[in-house]
Amino acid sequence: MSEGILLSPVARGTLLSAAERVARLDTALPQIRAALDGEHDAVAIEATLACLLWETLVQTNWCGFYRRIDERTLAVGPYQGTMGCLRIDLARGVCGACARTGTMQRVPDVSLFPGHIACDDRTRSELVLPVVRAGAVLAVLDLDSPHLDAFSPDEADRLATLVADVFAEASF
Ligand code: SME
Repeated sequence: MSEGILLSPVARGTLLSAAERVARLDTALPQIRAALDGEHDAVAIEATLACLLWETLVQTNWCGFYRRIDERTLAVGPYQGTMGCLRIDLARGVCGACARTGTMQRVPDVSLFPGHIACDDRTRSELVLPVVRAGAVLAVLDLDSPHLDAFSPDEADRLATLVADVFAEASF
C-alpha cells in the first residue's frame, strides 16, 4: 500500500514487464478515476494525476504536466520527480512536438528523437500525451523513464483515455 492508492509495493525505478505494467495500471485506473470524480479544476486534476500516476508508474523519473501559456511556450506544471525544465519552446523536444501536433508522442529511445530536451540526462524513453479542449492543446502529460522502451502502446492507450475523460469538463 502506498499513500494515495492501493497497489502492491514496487521499488521506484523498477521496470516491470509490459504485461505487469498494464496489470498494475488496470488496478490503479478505477482508483484514480474515483479520486478525481467531480473535480473540475485543472490544477487540482493535474496535481492529483501527477501524484497517483507517479505511484502507479514506478518506471518513471518524471511524471507531470507542462501547460501552454502562449502560442509558443509550455511552462512546467504540477509534477513528481527530478527537477524539470521550467519552460519549453513549442519548436523543441518531445513535449513541444506533442503540443504542436496534438498527438501522443511515444518515444522508446529518446536518443533517436531529434531535438529531445534532456532535463534529466538519465531519461531514456518518454511518453507525452496532449490535454485537448475544443481542438486546442492546453497542456501535455509528460512521462519520462531512465529505462529504454518503458511505455507500451497498451499503457499509452489507457493513459490517453484517462486524460481525455478526467479533463473533459475541466476549467483551465
Ligand atoms: N524531455 C522533454 C522535456 C521535459 S523533461 O524531461 C521533464 C522533452 O524533450 O520534451
